[in-house]
Amino acid sequence: MAYLPPGLRAWLITSYEDIEFVLQDPRFRKSIDRAMPLFAAHSSGGAEGTGGGARSSLLYDNMANNDPPEHTRLRKPLNATFTARSVAARRDDIRRCAHETLDAVAGSDSFDLVQDFAFPFSISVICRTLGVTDEDRGTFHGWVQTITGDATPEALRRDTGSMTEYLRGLIRARRDAPREDVLSHLATSLDEPEAVAQAYALLAAGYETTANLITTGFLTLDAHPVQRDRLWADPTLVPGAVEEMLRHQSPFNLSLYRYVTEEVRLNGVTIPEGAIVFLAFAAANRDDCRFDEPERFDIGAPRREHLAFGGGIHNCIGKHLARLEVIVAFETLIERCPGLRVSESAAAHEWKASPTFRGLRTLRVGPGPVPGREAA
Ligand code: HEM
Repeated sequence: MAYLPPGLRAWLITSYEDIEFVLQDPRFRKSIDRAMPLFAAHSSGGAEGTGGGARSSLLYDNMANNDPPEHTRLRKPLNATFTARSVAARRDDIRRCAHETLDAVAGSDSFDLVQDFAFPFSISVICRTLGVTDEDRGTFHGWVQTITGDATPEALRRDTGSMTEYLRGLIRARRDAPREDVLSHLATSLDEPEAVAQAYALLAAGYETTANLITTGFLTLDAHPVQRDRLWADPTLVPGAVEEMLRHQSPFNLSLYRYVTEEVRLNGVTIPEGAIVFLAFAAANRDDCRFDEPERFDIGAPRREHLAFGGGIHNCIGKHLARLEVIVAFETLIERCPGLRVSESAAAHEWKASPTFRGLRTLRVGPGPVPGREAA
């Protein structure tokens, strides 16, 4: 969803206090119609440097890139699906997804936690949330990776076009024959281009971050073996551990863009009218003015006031679903893979090149000693 064009001159806000301020201040806005010319004006490559028409296509005209009243109208049809209560009612279904995904690999000597578990599981959940069949998930995963990654303009245009057509087909089918799913809510409450753009926002934002947190969370636990063993011995600690992973690992490490409608003074610095601004959520979550010993990772004392889900009116609509997915993922790993360990060296870790999403491309894991059993 986010893209930092090469040559773009933008402002980066890094402290917890300043980011909290920006998230609540209506002078920081997101309307894509006004933002595109500003992107072109602040890029050394002009409009082409921003990705040209491909990025201003209909897919981007979603809630994440709009201000009130459009933002409120676009977000409304989705609110009921993503409340804490509606999401909690899906726990069994999400648990089933996790077990089915793990069935394929749990008996193996070693597997890739990213490609064999975290991604297929998160994609399965978002597919079921929207009402997309599991068979299509590989196809749209490829498109989303191109669109949210660092693709060439041609690849971007090609995959944006394919994704738009694909979503349009689904929305049309739901408008003619609505079901009990998110695509049907969108199809019946918004016009077609709006419904397509909203479905895209959910797909683009709705699984990569979650999958990344499962793997970076696991990697962090592996680097803290005492806490890992404590967690594996007492799964009631999982919700708190996930909260601390969110703060410590910040899978959405850099915000989507904002621009300022007028000159703003922020902590003694003047940001000029029309400037493009990004918020470094990962930096805020390790800000030592806000958190004591921010580098410390402690599953028993999670710092819940993190900004991993953003804040203000654009706070993450999927936060309850994301939390539940990651909780269920760890509960399932604890239940099915008692001694699971990272089985590659830190030098082998390959991180994705995205400015926005912090995640690993692969993470090899395999069986290790089961905590408590060695002593028996
Ligand atoms: C651990 C997983 C996740 C993290 C860390 C995360 C983080 C975030 C953050 C930081 C924002 C705000 C960006 C900004 O203000 O620039 C955001 C917005 C959003 N997220 Fe998430 N997200 C996660 C999972 C999900 C899921 C599962 C869904 C969908 C089911 C989702 C859908 C969205 C949407 C649609 C927005 C835009 C909301 C708006 O503009 O009103 N996210 N997310």
